[in-house]
Amino acid sequence: MITKEQVVQALEQLTDPFLYKTLKETNAIQEVTIKPEKAHVSIKIAIAKTGTAEQMQLQTAVVKLIKELGAQTVGLRFTELTEEELKAFEVPQSEAPKTLLSPGTKTVFLAVASGKGGVGKSTVSVNLAVALARLGKKVGIIDADIYGFSVPDMMGITKRPVVRGERIIPVERFGVKVISMGFFVEDNAPVIWRGPMLGKMLNHFFTEVEWGDLDYLVLDLPPGTGDVALDIHAMLPACKEVIVTTPHPTASFVAARAGAMALRTEHEIIGVVENMSYFESKLTGEKEYVFGQGGGQKLAEELQTKLLGHIPLQQPDWNKEDFAPSVYEEEHQIGKIYNHIAGQIIDITIQ
Ligand SMILES: Nc1ncnc2c1ncn2[C@@H]1O[C@H](COP(=O)(O)OP(=O)(O)OP(=O)(O)O)[C@@H](O)[C@H]1O
Ligand SMILES: [Mg+2]
Repeated sequence: MITKEQVVQALEQLTDPFLYKTLKETNAIQEVTIKPEKAHVSIKIAIAKTGTAEQMQLQTAVVKLIKELGAQTVGLRFTELTEEELKAFEVPQSEAPKTLLSPGTKTVFLAVASGKGGVGKSTVSVNLAVALARLGKKVGIIDADIYGFSVPDMMGITKRPVVRGERIIPVERFGVKVISMGFFVEDNAPVIWRGPMLGKMLNHFFTEVEWGDLDYLVLDLPPGTGDVALDIHAMLPACKEVIVTTPHPTASFVAARAGAMALRTEHEIIGVVENMSYFESKLTGEKEYVFGQGGGQKLAEELQTKLLGHIPLQQPDWNKEDFAPSVYEEEHQIGKIYNHIAGQIIDITIQ
């Protein structure tokens, strides 16, 4: 059976989200009681500030750790450290390592999600990030598809990030700072990791990458509603979501699942992008609705959000000197649509 020492040892490693000190250093673990017959552990933890999003994150981490130790149920109470304790632990502002996850960050997180694969999440993420940068915003993109990374190739990135001290400097392309698992994998080898490693990797992308001040951080999510999406939901309570769908009514039905999950985790869905909406003949200008029609509108209504735009089927103009296979130029018909979508997103997210 799980022991008190095991519980304390596991929890001591966690950090107070405001003081950047471990729970051991802040003497935060005030009570641990175990009811072996019910495999129930109850814990009281003191942190700098309660009733915050940061507390929710810590709470999730604590419950996960204790359940991993074998507890069936966890009773968790938070209390605040006393004024004197706080004074003793407070880190001077300049010393606290500022990361994208630090409280008070102004960055808007935009996750691009869909219910199923291959609908154009990565294409939309990349072009949305580039469009936001073209509109003068400071933008980063995290390729959160750890197994199926594609952002570096899509943007035509051949460079690798530089590591300075303990910080990773992201690669910049079209004014967007980019980080991807693809940068850390030799020769396109497949990434084989178990679930918990994925969450850790994502965490590194937030905390160890030198992002500087960002207005927007776009997250290209892997398909479906799997582990990574859940990790993001836990890490970024204030994350906003854009859902990508194809125009077929059943595609939007599947995408609604991703939307339903965002709603449950209280992520705000700020709009739907319908991709692969139609094919327009260069000869006659006639539009053919190859994959059906109306899916984006239907999904937007279902999720009570806006349809931000329809993106037709077409490849970018490829430029041999500066090859970026999935990035549309600003003057390209689709480049203009992305600019329009980015403009709406800026309007929606202005604080
Ligand atoms: N509007 C479009 N016109 C033409 N091709 C497109 C369009 N949108 C996406 N594609 C192509 O469709 C394929 C799938 O797109 P993409 O990789 O962006 O989808 P995804 O949803 O990120 O896929 P995955 O679920 O595998 O991550 C790519 O080859 C991409 O170049
Ligand atoms: Mg993708």
